[in-house]
Amino acid sequence: MMFRDSFKYYKSRNPAPDLSNVIDLENLDCIRVRNIKAHITGEEIEDNFGLKSVEKWKIYELLDIPGLIFIQNPFTPNGQRYWITRCLKDYSKEPYKLNIDAHNILNNETWWDICFQTSERAKTLLPKLRWATLGYHHNWDTKLYSENSKSDMPTELFGLTSILAKALGFSNFKAEAAIVNYYRMNSTLAGHTDHSEMNVTAPLFSISFGQTAIFLIGGPRQEDPTNAMFLRSGDVVIMSNSSRLRYHGVPKILPASKTPWDDNREESKKNSMYNCDDWCKARTYIAEARINMNVRQVLKPGQIVLY
Ligand code: OGA
Ligand code: MN
Repeated sequence: MMFRDSFKYYKSRNPAPDLSNVIDLENLDCIRVRNIKAHITGEEIEDNFGLKSVEKWKIYELLDIPGLIFIQNPFTPNGQRYWITRCLKDYSKEPYKLNIDAHNILNNETWWDICFQTSERAKTLLPKLRWATLGYHHNWDTKLYSENSKSDMPTELFGLTSILAKALGFSNFKAEAAIVNYYRMNSTLAGHTDHSEMNVTAPLFSISFGQTAIFLIGGPRQEDPTNAMFLRSGDVVIMSNSSRLRYHGVPKILPASKTPWDDNREESKKNSMYNCDDWCKARTYIAEARINMNVRQVLKPGQIVLY
């Protein structure tokens, strides 16, 4: 099926789609993959950013989609709680840009502060947050980045993607822009290619948390045949080399059958990376939501400004 037809098919509620052709990296029997060994060892990692030790990561390249690399949830449960809380509490406020900025509904308040109190306003505002842009802000109208529209890149997100990149042998990757996508159970993301970056030879990192997505990936043209795959909480997809400019999108969010963000709660209390009250709030959100951190390099190697 070409991209548009596949999107319609998986988006449909009635009739509900048959999911048996959706690529499931938890069930390797029916798919052709190449196993990749991490290029680093645990000892080389100073700060683990919520990651399991590299020796435990399962990394695959899909042979039918060369350059598409998949790391099956490399995060600890504590790490999942840390990143979910970061996205909801910290990346959803200044200096980052939000879709709801344009609506002028926040007056010196933050989305987080309003949404996790009990009020009518909380209920209406909570589902309105759809994206945040960090680092170079993606301009959704012009599809361009600009030196006049950027914030800092959170150091922990820079650090996390540096480790992931290094593990895969992309040792020069620098996170310079990120989009955090917030999905409710009825949200979708239309098909698109990410071609705004000056540097489209650098890989793109896509990190998912919360409920499960059906992720579609086609070819460089709308007409090309399309594959569907499940993305679950913690999964990391890297679009590198010839897969970097393929059409992709999210037609459907499904309830997750497992909730790794709830695993070993007790153990984490000793050295948790987040505030427990914050996690309590974030947990109610993620029960009916998906978050995707989509991280890119914008500049070419050695380039220091955009012009
Ligand atoms: C994007 C994107 C995919 C996802 O932000 O450009 O493709 O899985 N996100 O949410
Ligand atoms: Mn994209």
